[in-house]
Amino acid sequence: MELAALHLKLNDRLPMGVCVVDAGYNVLYWNDFFADRIALRSEQVLGQSLLSLFPAEARYLKKKIHSVFVLNNASFSYWEHKPHVFPFSSSRPITGEETLMYQNIEFLPLDSEGGTVRSVCLLVQDVTELASYFQAEQQLSARLELEHAALKAVNEKLSMAQNQLLQSEKMAAIGQLAAGVAHEINNPIGFISSNLQTMQDYAGRLLKLVAFYEKVTAKTGTETTQAMQRDMQQRMQFDFVRHDLTELLAESIDGIDRVAAIVKNLKSFSHVDNAEWQYASLVDGLENTLKIAANQLKYKVEIHRDYSDELPDVYCQPMQINQIFLNLLVNASQAMDAGGHLYLKVWQLDANVFVEVRDSGSGIEPAHMNRLFEPFFTTKPVGSGTGLGLSLSYSIAKKHQGDILVHSVVGEGSSFTLVLPVHGSDSPTEETTENEFAVEGNESS
Ligand SMILES: Nc1ncnc2c1ncn2[C@@H]1O[C@H](COP(=O)(O)OP(=O)(O)O)[C@@H](O)[C@H]1O
Ligand SMILES: [Mg+2]
Repeated sequence: MELAALHLKLNDRLPMGVCVVDAGYNVLYWNDFFADRIALRSEQVLGQSLLSLFPAEARYLKKKIHSVFVLNNASFSYWEHKPHVFPFSSSRPITGEETLMYQNIEFLPLDSEGGTVRSVCLLVQDVTELASYFQAEQQLSARLELEHAALKAVNEKLSMAQNQLLQSEKMAAIGQLAAGVAHEINNPIGFISSNLQTMQDYAGRLLKLVAFYEKVTAKTGTETTQAMQRDMQQRMQFDFVRHDLTELLAESIDGIDRVAAIVKNLKSFSHVDNAEWQYASLVDGLENTLKIAANQLKYKVEIHRDYSDELPDVYCQPMQINQIFLNLLVNASQAMDAGGHLYLKVWQLDANVFVEVRDSGSGIEPAHMNRLFEPFFTTKPVGSGTGLGLSLSYSIAKKHQGDILVHSVVGEGSSFTLVLPVHGSDSPTEETTENEFAVEGNESS
């Protein structure tokens, strides 16, 4: 066999496209790779314009081929940039469906004589397998990235929830501790208080008795006994003692009464059975909490109360609701300077009770409004704010099927309104509604 014929035979067997064009873009030769795919033999296309044979990418082909003629340098076309220059279907479809062939093309200068290129050879390589592998890889990593981001978000949420849980656990623990301590010191306070009262009574009697003796001595005693008495009284500083004894006792009784009141507040605030759901008065809760928060409030603000008459008890976890009140009251007081006004309002509308805590404080920047309930959102200096008060309050409100509404004007003040359903989440009305749905569902199926 002739060498040229052998070359042609080899070319035809090549698993890649070979096509030679002249300076007018006319086909001089193409191998079976081309012939098989567009059903035109090399002889049939001889002299035809490659550009009109593949009109869709004619401009691109022209540009590429032209540059090789002009520059006498090889040029390349990569699948990532131009995947389907020739509209061939893939010989190795990856997915089983007919897909377009992904191609790398080399444009090589041929027959260059004295710097002039006479023809250009196009080598077309089928890289469908590689491309689809790449694409699958890319899709996979994109998906992994998405999943990773989703996981990260879930993780963040989890740790926030854990923080809130920790915080509320801590509050519950403190509440229980306070209740325990209150219970323990209640007993001694009881007997100290009653003993003091008895002592006050006894002291009164003793003083009367002394006064009686003084009178008797003054009337019937001799000079000597009277002098002795005066001397003794002076040595004992009796005039001072007589006066001070009554005052000391009165002061102590007042003190122990105050301790008893604080303990009582602490007990009702921490509601020993705090986790239990029960019907409780929100006004009582607010007032008890106010007494606890009083040391933050009383010196600088005036409190205005507006409570509706005949408010129903609300089905709730009272200790948790007090926690909300405490957060709102502390925030309000922190937002106000001395001379501020605190407005407390409680009213009912339909099946809900509303508790509004309004202050004449700094107000809230509009940009902060959306972030108030985010865990750790705080505008307060380190050490004075944790940023957990409102987020914790919000989750407690949600657990009660309630809500917290905010209204604020910068420079005028803020109002936070807790809304709670009177009968809580498992109210009889809601149950009937659910049952009605169930019945409807059964009928229609
Ligand atoms: N009554 C209020 N007046 C003005 N700003 C408030 C008030 N209540 C809450 N805020 C704002 O909301 C933020 C978050 O409150 P909170 O969750 O209780 O955290 P903290 O009080 O620890 O900062 C506060 O830092 C403050 O900027
Ligand atoms: Mg706070």
